[in-house]
Amino acid sequence: MSLKIMILGANGFIGSALTSAILRARDWEVFGIDLSDNKLGDLPKNDRFHFVEGDITINREWVEYHVKKCDVVVPLVAIANPAQYVTHPLRVFELDFEANLTVVRHCVKYGKRLIFPSTSEIYGMSPDAVLDEETSPLVYGPIEKQRWIYAASKQLLDRVIYAYGVRDNLDYTLFRPFNFIGPNLDNVEEPKEGSSRVFTQFLSNVLYRRPIKLVDGGRQKRSFTYIDDAIECLLTILENAQSRASRRIFNIGNPANCVSIRDLAERTIRIAQEFPLLRESARATEIVDISAGEYYGKYYQDIQVRVPAIQAAQRDLGWRPTTDLDTAIRRTIEFYVKQENFSARAAALAGN
Ligand code: UGA
Repeated sequence: MSLKIMILGANGFIGSALTSAILRARDWEVFGIDLSDNKLGDLPKNDRFHFVEGDITINREWVEYHVKKCDVVVPLVAIANPAQYVTHPLRVFELDFEANLTVVRHCVKYGKRLIFPSTSEIYGMSPDAVLDEETSPLVYGPIEKQRWIYAASKQLLDRVIYAYGVRDNLDYTLFRPFNFIGPNLDNVEEPKEGSSRVFTQFLSNVLYRRPIKLVDGGRQKRSFTYIDDAIECLLTILENAQSRASRRIFNIGNPANCVSIRDLAERTIRIAQEFPLLRESARATEIVDISAGEYYGKYYQDIQVRVPAIQAAQRDLGWRPTTDLDTAIRRTIEFYVKQENFSARAAALAGN
């Protein structure tokens, strides 16, 4: 069956990868909106992709009209960078919570399926060694630790969506990304420290020949998931939204890729050396320690370990991740090295 899918934030990291996969591997139509189109390449030329440049908080009529018109709504507009949770907590609340609540309510009003991004952050400092969608406690720090406004916003939306499911039969799937990495994650050329998530920050440090900074020694662990694995899971959810995925929550993560941040730094430096453009700068990249307070300020609090339980997705969606961490790192670096801006910057910094 041909579906009409609405993707809010179609130019984002997940949005652009999902749009590209749908147009390549399915016969569905995509209606997308985003602030810009720099990650979309030639996709807007595709007849099945209807893209507008716009802001969901301003182009409200476009948004409501397209919720009405489409079969499935995937709202991917959000601030998802921890540095911003501590510097702009209210912006996070306004966009991640308030703007998305409006979209959720449109889905209820028009009876549309909603595929909504929850987050791995929702588990916070949960004591569970492996984080389960149905049973793990969600544990946050004190109010002063503004980092938790993102997790708290997402948690409340999960609860609101769940309640709309119970009361109004909203047909939804909540998915929880666990540290996806891959092409187009963040802008690696952005020289400002802290503007990226960890992997792209490290790659940017290699590019600019700056030391990689390990917050509190880099002992904290994350489970890194390659974007192509994640997109496979999302396509399955989209296909099965009305059956196996309906009113369910799925972690999307790769427990086999759980490593410390120090390990990630070492792998990034090692694998970057495989690329002639980065070899010299990667060899020269130092790893230094920094306190969380110095790096993020006093409103930050870290999460020590985050491992997803993925039995639900394995059992009910027939999905499992297959990309190991070194391959994920290699493919991502390969993508950035091929970008004209990146290679020009690398060459300039090398003095060529
Ligand atoms: C991320 C973000 O909140 C979201 O992108 C998302 O919802 C979620 O996790 C996810 O993708 O699963 P987090 O993993 O804490 O949260 O964010 P990163 O910025 O990627 O940092 C990971 C770890 O690396 C943190 O412990 C951080 O302190 C550390 N780090 C970061 C460093 O040691 N050095 C750096 O330069 C940057």
